[in-house]
Amino acid sequence: MKGVILAGGTGTRLQPFTTILNKHLLPVGPYPMIHWPILRLRNAGIDEIMIITNKDDLSSFIKLLGHGEELNVKLHYKVQKNKGGGIADALVSAKSFIGTGKFVVLLGDNIFEDSLLPYIEDFKEQKIGARILLKEVKDPTRYGVPDMDTINNRVVSIIEKPHNPPSTYCVTGIYMYDHQVFTMIETIHPSSRNELEITDVNNLYIKNNQLQYNILAGWWIDAGTHDSLYKAFQYINEKANGEEIN
Ligand code: G1P
Repeated sequence: MKGVILAGGTGTRLQPFTTILNKHLLPVGPYPMIHWPILRLRNAGIDEIMIITNKDDLSSFIKLLGHGEELNVKLHYKVQKNKGGGIADALVSAKSFIGTGKFVVLLGDNIFEDSLLPYIEDFKEQKIGARILLKEVKDPTRYGVPDMDTINNRVVSIIEKPHNPPSTYCVTGIYMYDHQVFTMIETIHPSSRNELEITDVNNLYIKNNQLQYNILAGWWIDAGTHDSLYKAFQYINEKANGEEIN
């Protein structure tokens, strides 16, 4: 299975740093943020990885990571055509790299504790469709939030940044898709924040009865704000003191 890390976007919630630097190059513990999602994929046996970023930032990523020699992975790069066009828009750039296989997508600012291995194993057993990972959070209004049918273990729908969240869970930026995702993206339209929303894509999978989920056991952080970036830094440092991070 291949992996895709989305490392573009505008990083507006992390200004002024992101005026001069791509968010995914900011420090989280002893390494730039992008280091951690690469390790999470590698740890799950995924070593063919595409990093999708903005045109202006590409050279910095290549300077930092090369083709992945130091991290023992094979890195490919692609530029997202519309900076700030949204997660689903960015994903389109991975189409030819992915081909017809199943794959894992990580948002490059999602820093988390769990190994992806067991979840990927579940996804491998799934014949078709998508799989998302959920996490209980204090402030669901910041995220995509699932409306859950807990009796039947189903997500009924996902609402992006709801004012009245239907549950206390959020959809993390860890997604697993089959190749249908690319045709689904072609059918969606920009949202009110003018982005192609991955939530719209996931809702299409739900409509087709093809969306499964797991709930993350360990800590999970979307390090896209000043507060959460600080928290991610602390978590990584604590973990680095206690055990080896791989
Ligand atoms: C994005 C997704 C959202 C998801 C979140 C996880 O939000 O749109 O559904 O819960 O990532 O990190 P954004 O970072 O674009 O606000």
